Amino acid sequence: MELRTGLHLITCAQLSHPWDATGALVWGANGRPLMTDCGGFNPGAVVRNLAAVRRRRSSKRGVMPSEVDRLVLTHGHYDHAGGATLLPKARVLVHPGDADGLRTGDPDRQATFLYPGCDPLQLPHVEELEDGQVIEIQGGYIEIHHFGAHTPGSVVHLIVLDGERILQPGDLICGHGHTRTGTDFDAWLPALYGMLELEPDSILPSHLDRPGLVMAEPVIARAIAEFKPRRFDDNYRLPPEGFFSVV
Ligand SMILES: [Fe+2]
Repeated sequence: MELRTGLHLITCAQLSHPWDATGALVWGANGRPLMTDCGGFNPGAVVRNLAAVRRRRSSKRGVMPSEVDRLVLTHGHYDHAGGATLLPKARVLVHPGDADGLRTGDPDRQATFLYPGCDPLQLPHVEELEDGQVIEIQGGYIEIHHFGAHTPGSVVHLIVLDGERILQPGDLICGHGHTRTGTDFDAWLPALYGMLELEPDSILPSHLDRPGLVMAEPVIARAIAEFKPRRFDDNYRLPPEGFFSVV
């Protein structure tokens, strides 16, 4: 599903698995596919949806998993990172705050304890992202901004594509937390204000009411207005139905 020219939706609740976070594909400056998060609970859907990606309208050939060059993660939770094992040649990049959890197969830091029957990833070769890092892509660039809060290594991706500032916030919008995953509830509200300062035009939510982009400012403003620290460790929750339908 192509959301913008050069921005393809690969995973989300409606396209792959109800537990999957949004995973998108853009084209790196080297011409190779780059994914930003990747879901993970439905390998067949990832392969199928990559195969449906077209570089040009006239092209008949989709993307093979082995062609994905990099996987850039908002954080190390399995619903965002699990598909890494399907991408055999992809360099996996995550903030240092979440890197060891992926390297060591930590079920707490990957939040696999929330998903029955889910085994944590073992990714010893994970590379580390820097706060402020810029990744060049065709038509623009991705800025990495570290806010922590949801997990120690939670970053947002500001995907600037053909002049549009598209924010991929991971689970920092209307999020949820759990001390076992290292959530810092005190850092959450500053993170929401920090996202406003990035002046995004649109948001690619991680857990969508429906596939697509939403206007940024009303959604972040509502997340701030309704923010409550969720300190109940068993209250792991997704955004209320309709949250991303405010516009
Ligand atoms: Fe998460």
